[in-house]
Amino acid sequence: MNNKTHSSDCQITNVEFARGVVGDDPILAEDKPNIVVAGRSNAGKSSVINRLLGRQLARTSSTPGKTQEINFFSIDAAAYLVDLPGYGYAKLPAARAEKLRKQMIWYLARSGAPIKLLLLVLDVRRGSKGLDRDLLDIASGEGIPVVIVANKIDKCNQKERVAALRALAEDVTSHPETVKQVLPFSAIKGTGKDELCKIIKSIYAN
Ligand code: GTP
Ligand code: MG
Repeated sequence: MNNKTHSSDCQITNVEFARGVVGDDPILAEDKPNIVVAGRSNAGKSSVINRLLGRQLARTSSTPGKTQEINFFSIDAAAYLVDLPGYGYAKLPAARAEKLRKQMIWYLARSGAPIKLLLLVLDVRRGSKGLDRDLLDIASGEGIPVVIVANKIDKCNQKERVAALRALAEDVTSHPETVKQVLPFSAIKGTGKDELCKIIKSIYAN
């Protein structure tokens, strides 16, 4: 527990790794909201989760494409934060990339898991590309609300930040019902952490 954090800061205090899933699993049938973290490999999904939870629970790495399982973290015994394997890593063998893509679509559209929110983590300097947009289409089709987490904002100067966020705003325009918000974020500095924490808590807390 971090005593230095100001008491008004949003906190998810009760956190534990539940399990890693590769296919059908009883955890998918549990009646707990799934809050999914998805995005390109190396966009910073695991770092965002660790920043949110205030602990180094999700494995981060400098080697993209490491996370292969769908990792379920139990939060406040009330919901699951779900870390999806990253997509779009160019050096991943095509067959494995395709398997991961299918696994992602299966989880989002066919697993029956009660998915209440998708956090699409993007490297803000790279914007959204092919599979990011496919993911927005899938979320749209499934009626899953999306918050775009514009991560690595610490790497932008003011001018780059404005340009990058303007470009991302177009994703909201193209999926107006689905994308609820574009949230500037830095897993390294903590920018946006409090707001994201509140968004997540609003899904499961009264
Ligand atoms: P996969 O699991 O391989 O899909 O990657 P991931 O999306 O989980 O990315 P991960 O959290 O492992 O982060 C990838 C790299 O980006 C690491 O070197 C992180 O330290 C770095 N990183 C993540 N978030 C930020 C951020 O907000 N700012 C900066 N500067 N670096 C970041
Ligand atoms: Mg990861």
